[in-house]
Amino acid sequence: MFCRGGTPWPPHCSLYARVGRPRSAAPTKNMNRFVLLIVILGSTSVSAQDITTLEKIGPVVSVQRTDKGVTLNCHDNSQVQISILAPDLIRVRASFTKPIPARDHSWAIAKENWTTPRWNVSETSDVVTITTDELEVVIRRSPLLIEFRDARTHQLINADEHPMSYDAGGRLASMIFDPKAGMFVAASKKLGFDEHFYGLGEKAARLDKRRSSFVNWNSDTPGYIEGKDPIYQTIPFYMGLQRGIAYGIFFDNSYRSYFDFGKSSQQRAWFGAEGGELNYYFFYGPSIKKILGRYADLTGHMPLPPLWALGNQQSRWSYYPDSMVEEVVNEYRKRDLPLDVVHLDIDYMNGYRVFTFNKERFPDPKALTDKLGRQGVKVVTIVDPGIKHPPDKNERYHAFDQGLEKNFFQRRRNGDLFVPRVWPGESVFVDYTLPEARRWWGDLHRVYTDNGIAGIWNDMNEPSDFVDQTGKNQLDVVSYDEGEKSTHAKNRNTFALLMARATYEGLERLRPDRRPYVITRAAYAGIQRYATMWTGDTNSTWDALALNIPMFTSLGLSGEPFVGSDIGGFIGRGNGELLVRSYQVSFLAPFCRNHKAIDGYDQEPWRFGKYYEDIIRKYLKLRYTLLPFLYTTLEEAHRSGVPPFRPLVLNYQDDPNTYNLDDQFMVGNDLLVAPILKPDVSKRLVYLPAGLWYDYWTNKKYTGGTMISVEAPLDVVPMFVRGGAMIPVGPSLNYVGEKPFDPITFNIYPDESGAASGTLYEDDGLSPAYKTGVFRRTTFSARRGPRGIVTSIERQEGTYNAGPRKFNFVEVK
Ligand code: GLC
Repeated sequence: MFCRGGTPWPPHCSLYARVGRPRSAAPTKNMNRFVLLIVILGSTSVSAQDITTLEKIGPVVSVQRTDKGVTLNCHDNSQVQISILAPDLIRVRASFTKPIPARDHSWAIAKENWTTPRWNVSETSDVVTITTDELEVVIRRSPLLIEFRDARTHQLINADEHPMSYDAGGRLASMIFDPKAGMFVAASKKLGFDEHFYGLGEKAARLDKRRSSFVNWNSDTPGYIEGKDPIYQTIPFYMGLQRGIAYGIFFDNSYRSYFDFGKSSQQRAWFGAEGGELNYYFFYGPSIKKILGRYADLTGHMPLPPLWALGNQQSRWSYYPDSMVEEVVNEYRKRDLPLDVVHLDIDYMNGYRVFTFNKERFPDPKALTDKLGRQGVKVVTIVDPGIKHPPDKNERYHAFDQGLEKNFFQRRRNGDLFVPRVWPGESVFVDYTLPEARRWWGDLHRVYTDNGIAGIWNDMNEPSDFVDQTGKNQLDVVSYDEGEKSTHAKNRNTFALLMARATYEGLERLRPDRRPYVITRAAYAGIQRYATMWTGDTNSTWDALALNIPMFTSLGLSGEPFVGSDIGGFIGRGNGELLVRSYQVSFLAPFCRNHKAIDGYDQEPWRFGKYYEDIIRKYLKLRYTLLPFLYTTLEEAHRSGVPPFRPLVLNYQDDPNTYNLDDQFMVGNDLLVAPILKPDVSKRLVYLPAGLWYDYWTNKKYTGGTMISVEAPLDVVPMFVRGGAMIPVGPSLNYVGEKPFDPITFNIYPDESGAASGTLYEDDGLSPAYKTGVFRRTTFSARRGPRGIVTSIERQEGTYNAGPRKFNFVEVK
């Protein structure tokens, strides 16, 4: 929620009255002025920077071999460490004009102890060459330029265009958030003539990021539109793809960072940050899938959420009192609409005090969760980082009192408590870099787990501050940061990561036999270890809907597999058509939740009439029958880092027709979906990659490698199945666990040669036992023979006893 010193953002004018925020006389004008300022500031900071004017790292004067790689000593006393973590993963760490510091810490990194693979180094007077089984790193000594080549073909993958640079002269000081906190550092790479760029986390942008530039600075940006940058999250990881060959770069630096993929120059793609180290990891594919696997190894694999998290979810700012929550759930059940989760937004609390319930609105939360539980519905509550600072010092509020006593709250450099303003008015934030504070925060969630709350929704964690959204009000806020006592310039972007971590670890301790379910708005790389995410305060517009696909797929290409958006859009008034088309995108997204702003028109599935409701029911029911398939693709994401919701380029990276295709997507390897993203349209072109494809609805066969035109009246989302797939489908359900997945029907879609294969993943859906092998992954195959289709079990893994369930095999003809 963005709200600036009494200047409300227009769509929320009415709601500020309710939450005690003053109305502005001319909000639209003020807002426009503010947005303009941001645009000017934003664009100045990126394009006005000419990183070629910065100091360049000096030439190499000596090379030291270490156990893990080499250290290069430079003429200007700079040092560069090249470490080999895996045959396809190299770390580059530079320290300008001084030796590499001993301290080496990152909140993003999950794996530090890599077993150094086989490698070699050779030196000539011009170059130092490091070779692994997959990569050749060629370091030119003067000027110092690094090239990455394929070890087998020696083909160039990525090369410095310019030596690594640093702003010793303070040229960029005027644009830097906090010049005292750091010096601008940058790396510059040659831009390939036909190079495409993917990833970079949550950006309000298209899939291929070529010719664009971006800033990372977690920001509360309600009603964002395409091009708004930055928004909520920072994932400084991208992949380049050229001639079908992909590499990845993870610039692990939490300061405000910049990525330019050939916008300011035709020669160069560069990245830099306003402080910290020039510290990046280079991944070699050549496949995107392999890079995503390595990125997950480095920054953490997404744990499996409970299976019910794949169920349909309904939210509203805010459902209260308890009887209204019951009414919503009853309505779902009465109308035969599937539902697994209902969300309680900020009004469930006592005056926005986190870890409390409002006694009038929710007198007995446990009775409520029990009752809804009997209807198969779980409750998720929102928890914001702002702990109310009681205006009256005699008021007792346990979260504030305890945190103050333990000294867990953020303070300014002069020792004063940092007091931002958020929903509760004056508030305080926890210093989540303190391990004991994280533990305390996690333990505070006992009030939720004791009351049967099933999951936690973390919001406002950029962290948003109504006093000033740019972070200036937080400039001198000091965090413990493993003893470094660093300031906001470094810690803003990791705040949400650490809050989600504290929440996740708390839920793990409080309910060790259950998988935590945490949702977050803001993030830094590594967030997938702790939280699923949604794309914040979108608009109820067709433009916003069209952004869903590039945003979900880009997040998937950035190591965040469990994503979704407010179905129907959050801000403004939609209509039945928009809502239906929105479900036709999200019914296959991992996070499937309809949510709406407090002052928006209601948009539960039935609100626009039976015609639309019937179509929405059809898609929600379809989602539930596809749960065995969706859960199998989710487990694949957990294990391999490859997300369920995919751009076509992820499955077909050799096919240039997919490189900027972002109005269609795939789920796993097998389903291709091409939604309608405009009003009053009932026909569209769909690109089918090479191979045989089946229309999901009619079973009509198509030969791919071409664009086809298909009909898509409002009740139809064009959907195709890849020839060669076996899709496991379960019974119709209104919530997860209503019935067992029995029977499971494999719909077999043979390829041109009559063959197909598929996988089914099963576990208990709730406990962490899968982590110790208590799961069952079964791989099936099918082949059309003279007497019909013959199926067989190719492989079974895991120790889970899935019980006696019937498998049906049906050939689709
Ligand atoms: C923020 C969230 C939104 C929530 C609201 C009130 O705007 O993004 O989802 O409903 O705050 O908590």
